[in-house]
Amino acid sequence: MNVYDSDKIALGLDPLGYRLTDSPDKADMIIVNTCAIREKAVQKVFSYLGRVAGLKQTRPDLIIGVGGCVAQQEGERILKRAPYVDLVFGTHAIGRLPSLLSRIEKRRQQVVDVEMGSRIQEPDGAVVPRGETEVSRFVTIMHGCDNFCTYCVVPYVRGRESSRQPEHILAEIQDLVDNGVREVTLLGQNVNSYGKKEGLPDFTSLLEKINDINGLKRVRFTTSHPQDLSENLIGAFGRLDKLCHHIHLPVQSGADPILKRMNRNYTSTQYLDKIEQLRRVCPDMAITSDIIVGFPGETKRDFAATVALIKTVGYDGLFTFKYSDRPNAPATQFSDKVAEHDKDQRLQTVLELQEAITLAKNRALVGQTQEVLVESYRLKPASGSGGIGSGQWTGRTSTNKIVHMPAGEAAPGQAGDIDPGLLIPILIKKAFAHSLWGLPDGSGARTVSGPKGESSHAA
Ligand code: 5AD
Ligand code: SF4
Repeated sequence: MNVYDSDKIALGLDPLGYRLTDSPDKADMIIVNTCAIREKAVQKVFSYLGRVAGLKQTRPDLIIGVGGCVAQQEGERILKRAPYVDLVFGTHAIGRLPSLLSRIEKRRQQVVDVEMGSRIQEPDGAVVPRGETEVSRFVTIMHGCDNFCTYCVVPYVRGRESSRQPEHILAEIQDLVDNGVREVTLLGQNVNSYGKKEGLPDFTSLLEKINDINGLKRVRFTTSHPQDLSENLIGAFGRLDKLCHHIHLPVQSGADPILKRMNRNYTSTQYLDKIEQLRRVCPDMAITSDIIVGFPGETKRDFAATVALIKTVGYDGLFTFKYSDRPNAPATQFSDKVAEHDKDQRLQTVLELQEAITLAKNRALVGQTQEVLVESYRLKPASGSGGIGSGQWTGRTSTNKIVHMPAGEAAPGQAGDIDPGLLIPILIKKAFAHSLWGLPDGSGARTVSGPKGESSHAA
């Protein structure tokens, strides 16, 4: 979501004459777009700001802005901790950036804007990739969250849930597709409740419309809350040809008493039932999840229930986090906190368990042909002297697994044509914990060449 917001910030600053640069040393302005989801993310913000402070000493005209969730949460307090910051703007202030900046440029005064309205105004249009083709982009379809999970800061820093109008979303995706994008990932804290509050067509009908966009090859979305994953949406995985066979369905815990205290509104049995329904409609569905270990009151038995659920589902991947207190989140007041070393151990247990499951799942794909959307090419430096380096294409399966494909090993004249944005069948030859490796399927002779105009063959 922050990647998308950063794009919108860049889009809003473009008319003011600001262009992106790849180095802080060259920048007239540095904007730090921040995340407050866990304590560690907030620590990173202040350590980064400390580094940027040095630049300001040598170049006093440099404008330093802090945006996003930490800005929203801390407001004026950021200026106390980092007095060299010029601008603090919250999650609802992106659309107001031009006027905030003109105040700074004209009067060199520090500005703080953490107002939260009910609707978010953002610069209109898609952030169209410049230069290199980008195959896959994010598109936010809704802001905020009304779920109030007891550990979570999001409802406080991103505000109440609100959905964007379908016509704006569709126009933005069309714009991206016209500029070479072939895959979009729709973003929201809980996409399943898209449009409900506003009385808009629901999420499944939005997906249906997106599925009809010519030139778009794939649609993904994240995140789904298990409590309102509807049968209609589950059915869409069987009906919509562009909808990827992957769902991120955060369970957080496998223990019912913990789920209750987290205010998640489902039991582990109800969750497993949804997983079964998904696999019935789409047997090769990849399922990933978020897990919090060491939530207040989590006993050894509760943790064992989480481990058991992970084994039962057999996730394709997991994001596992140690619980941390967040400002305003009710769980911060819960008294039965889990000791840090227990959290560490539990985290380690889950990481090791999942690594083994992911590897086994990836190995099961060896010998299978998977449709891969080609995303990028990288030329590997030649080893030794005199040789010409060979390159590697990278793409993803519908199930969101990264696939590397060698380039430049084809005999001249035999190379297959590959370009970013193509969907090609790849025979998986090798599996690792975090990626797969394969060759184009179909003919024994057909291998992969580098991007057009670039030869990486040995002469
Ligand atoms: N502590 C640890 N993890 C958290 N998450 C959200 N809040 C916290 C917290 N206070 C995790 C959840 C969520 C993911 C985005 O971050 O697992 O799904
Ligand atoms: Fe946070 Fe729960 Fe909303 Fe997700 S659904 S953003 S975890 S409050």
